[in-house]
Amino acid sequence: MTDLLELHGITKTLKGQQAPRTILDGVDLTVDSGESVAILGRSGSGKSTLLSLIGLFDRPDTGRYLLGGRDISRVAERRAAALRSAEFGFVFQRFFLLKHLTAAQNVAMALVNGQGWLPRRKRRARTMAALDQVGIAHLAKHRPARLSGGEQQRVAVARALVREPRLLLADEPTGALDTETGNLVIEVMRAATDRGCGLILVTHDWDHANKMQRVLQLTDGTLNPAIDTRGTTPTPAVASPPEPAAAASASATVPGRTGQDDAGLDGMFR
Ligand SMILES: Nc1ncnc2c1ncn2[C@@H]1O[C@H](COP(=O)(O)OP(=O)(O)OP(=O)(O)O)[C@@H](O)[C@H]1O
Ligand SMILES: [Mg+2]
Repeated sequence: MTDLLELHGITKTLKGQQAPRTILDGVDLTVDSGESVAILGRSGSGKSTLLSLIGLFDRPDTGRYLLGGRDISRVAERRAAALRSAEFGFVFQRFFLLKHLTAAQNVAMALVNGQGWLPRRKRRARTMAALDQVGIAHLAKHRPARLSGGEQQRVAVARALVREPRLLLADEPTGALDTETGNLVIEVMRAATDRGCGLILVTHDWDHANKMQRVLQLTDGTLNPAIDTRGTTPTPAVASPPEPAAAASASATVPGRTGQDDAGLDGMFR
C-alpha cells in the first residue's frame, strides 16, 4: 500500500447532450510521496476528467480511490472541499490569477481561504517562501498584468505549493507558455517532489513528460505505460490511430496569454 494515492478500477461515464460515453474504463494508478507521474493522451481521452476525480471535483461511478490509505471514493462534498484545500495543489493551463491582486496576495489567498487560520505574519512568511521557491520573490508586489506568462504560471505554482500539499495536480500547465518558460515551470514543480510532494502532470509534451519518473498514457479509458515513438517512421493515419503526441499537437487548443482570467475560481480555494 502506498502512503499517497491509489486508484483501482476507476470508471466514469459522462452524459452530455449525446449518448452517454464511458471516458474512464477501469483506471488503476498508484503514486507515492515524492513521485512524479506524467499522463499523456489524445485530446478528449479523459485526462482532465481523471484529474478532476483525483482532485475531488467529481466522483467516480465505480472503483476505489484511496488517499493515504483511506477510501475517499464516495466522500461527501463538504469533506471533499476540506481535502482539496488541505491535500492538493492545482495548476492549470490558464493561470486563474486575480488581476487586481499582487503576486503575493494571489498566493496568500490560498492560505486565507483554506482550512485553519494563520496569523498575518505567518501567512506573509509562507507566501514569500513559496514565491522564493519558484524564483520570483522579487516580483511579489507585481500584479499579473506586469508579469510574463511564465512568471504568472510560477505565481500559480507558488499558490498551489503554499499550503504544502501532499499532491500537486497539473493540467497542461505549460500549454500557454513558450518552450523556455515551460521548462522553468516544469522544473519548479519537479523540485517540489524533492520535498516529498507527489506530482501528476497532464501534458501533451513528451520532453516535459520525460522529466517525470513515470510516463503513462490514457488510451481507451485505461492508463498504461507510454512508449515514446518520436523518431520512428510515422504510420499512415488511415492504417492506425495517430500517435498520441502528434494527435495532441494537431487537436489541442493552445490559447495565447490568458493569464488574467478570474473565471473558474469556484472550488479552487475552498
Ligand atoms: N461535463 C461533461 N459532460 C459530458 N461530456 C464531457 C464533459 N466534460 C468533458 N466531456 C467529454 O469527455 C471527454 C474527455 O474530456 P477531457 O476534458 O477529460 O479530455 P482531455 O483528455 O483532458 O482532452 P484535452 O487534451 O483536449 O484537454 C471529451 O470527449 C469531452 O467532450
Ligand atoms: Mg484536458
